Amino acid sequence: MTFSRMVHFRLLFLFIGSCMFVSQCNGQDKGATTCGKLECPEYKVIHNEKNGFEIRSYKDAVWITTPNITSYTFEYAAQKGFATAYTYFLGNNSQGAKLNMTAPVLVDIQNDHYYTVHLYLPRQYQSNPPSTISNEFHPSKLPPRKFAVVRRFGGVMNNPAIATQLEALKKSLAGTPYEPVAAASADRFTVAVYYSPLDEPEKPLNEIMLWFD
Ligand SMILES: *[C@@H]1O[C@H](CO)[C@@H](O)[C@H](O)[C@H]1NC(C)=O
Ligand SMILES: *[C@@H]1O[C@H](CO)[C@@H](O)[C@H](O)[C@H]1NC(C)=O
Ligand SMILES: *[C@@H]1O[C@H](CO)[C@@H](O)[C@H](O)[C@H]1NC(C)=O
Repeated sequence: MTFSRMVHFRLLFLFIGSCMFVSQCNGQDKGATTCGKLECPEYKVIHNEKNGFEIRSYKDAVWITTPNITSYTFEYAAQKGFATAYTYFLGNNSQGAKLNMTAPVLVDIQNDHYYTVHLYLPRQYQSNPPSTISNEFHPSKLPPRKFAVVRRFGGVMNNPAIATQLEALKKSLAGTPYEPVAAASADRFTVAVYYSPLDEPEKPLNEIMLWFD
């Protein structure tokens, strides 16, 4: 294991640890949120289709975003992106401010090989984010489009799982007014990880999102 890989694992563990400390990031999941006590971005559910997807409208918010990471695997890109952007939360910012971890970790995936990782900035800092002092991440505004078609799923998040879930989502959209969104988002979509897949992998803690206006 290389040093940088060890750092990634340590950071991932910190993240997992903070989730366990606040007693179940997966806690109280009645459909509204998977964030437990971690702060989450606000959104409204504007349509809920029992069979497999919902339509959300996210409030505009600031996230800490990595550059475009080229990778053959989701795991490598997500760990690398998370590990660098998370240093901002540990004090790698102009004020040395330490920020509480938030959920979820969002990862944009383009053409299977290009990944961008986003961490939600806590509400307290939304209107006045501490400046970044590293060029490995920057503040950005999300969401990219007005609405998201969202499917939840459990288990380990990796490229085969993402491909399977994307197919399942497209299938559930067939014959609905949202069917065109599936075709338009084939090469560019987002996944959300609510906490490490190492814990209770059977719980539904991942999401796949297709954006549209
Ligand atoms: C990421 O980089 C690739 C290769 O340069 C480029 O084709 C792609 O459009 C970039 N994606 C984003 C979201 O910047
Ligand atoms: C801040 O982030 C940059 C880029 O990832 C890194 O080189 C630097 O070591 C980080 N500093 C701290 C204090 O974590
Ligand atoms: C940060 O998290 C801790 C532990 O959950 C909590 O007690 C504290 O109020 C949080 N701070 C802010 C500013 O939300």
